Amino acid sequence: MASIFDEGKALLEEINAASPSTPEEVEAFRIRFLGSKNIVKPFMGKMREIANDQKKEFGLLIKSIKEAAESKFQAAKVQSEIAAEDAASAHLDLSAPGEPIELGSRHPVSVTMNRIIKIFERIGFTVAEEREIEDDWHNFTAMNTPEDHPARDMQDTYYLKDSSDMLLRTHTSSVQSRVMMSTSPPIRIIAPGRVYRNETISARSHCQFHQVEGLYIDKGVSFADLKQTLFHFAQEMFGSNIKIRLRPSYFPFTEPSAEMDVFLGTDTDRTYRLTKGTGWLEILGCGMVDPNVLANCNIDPEVYTGFAFGMGIERTALQNFDIGDIRLLFENDIRFLRQFASAL
Ligand code: PHE
Repeated sequence: MASIFDEGKALLEEINAASPSTPEEVEAFRIRFLGSKNIVKPFMGKMREIANDQKKEFGLLIKSIKEAAESKFQAAKVQSEIAAEDAASAHLDLSAPGEPIELGSRHPVSVTMNRIIKIFERIGFTVAEEREIEDDWHNFTAMNTPEDHPARDMQDTYYLKDSSDMLLRTHTSSVQSRVMMSTSPPIRIIAPGRVYRNETISARSHCQFHQVEGLYIDKGVSFADLKQTLFHFAQEMFGSNIKIRLRPSYFPFTEPSAEMDVFLGTDTDRTYRLTKGTGWLEILGCGMVDPNVLANCNIDPEVYTGFAFGMGIERTALQNFDIGDIRLLFENDIRFLRQFASAL
């Protein structure tokens, strides 16, 4: 009987005395004491030969053997890994080429938006950014679109849950009222940002998209100023030979209102499709700021006049980069985005 206990103590001593250091030694230790065919298992089987009053003591011996093996193995493993790392860094080749760092790329929407912003910054507009969660007043009422105004149907609105007042802005025109309320003329701002409308998602429209808004208020600002500014923009954006036209239109916050088209022609399949065979592509809405809007925002319409314009970014981005489906712009598929790595 004593010999079984001695056998166990010998195992324990062997474990305590072992000092595996190389990865091979550590592995051999693991196989001998912890592997699926380890030497402790047959020893445990000897429980049957132990007298009942000594079974408890034998159990404790087995437990201490297992614990000793486990902790020795863990410690040795860590040591051998550190040693391996040290050995590797001792052989570090300082002349080896570095790991390439992957460069990100700008999103086509950002590229297009930045181009537009740059053009207006060069002629004295400064960027104004505002909240996307807006109240009804700044988005609609101040912009001469009170409740029950039929023009509210032009933009299907997402209201915040349980609120008839807070909404996701439907256009960047909300920045107009924000800026007019907080600064006094002369005002010359450009407001890029994301807007939301409750629209069915398809290849051509999405429930979120981006706009750039422009607002210029000062004494004596005229429709001729608006036209010249937009013509200059079109030349910078599409080339100096670009032709533009203004068509009468309607927006509650401008009077008179217009939409601007640029002439792309019908020479290629793409421009034919894009312009529905007319050669003209609509790119923005604009007009003279309605005196009601100025008055709503505490600017005296007897003293000041102004113009405003707003344009969607996605459509121009799709056209610039020859992308066929607006949904691609919001999926953030890296394989798609990588293709624009060379854009500015
Ligand atoms: N806010 C209008 C829209 O979303 C565009 C616009 C802006 C028109 C400013 C006129 C003046 O369609």
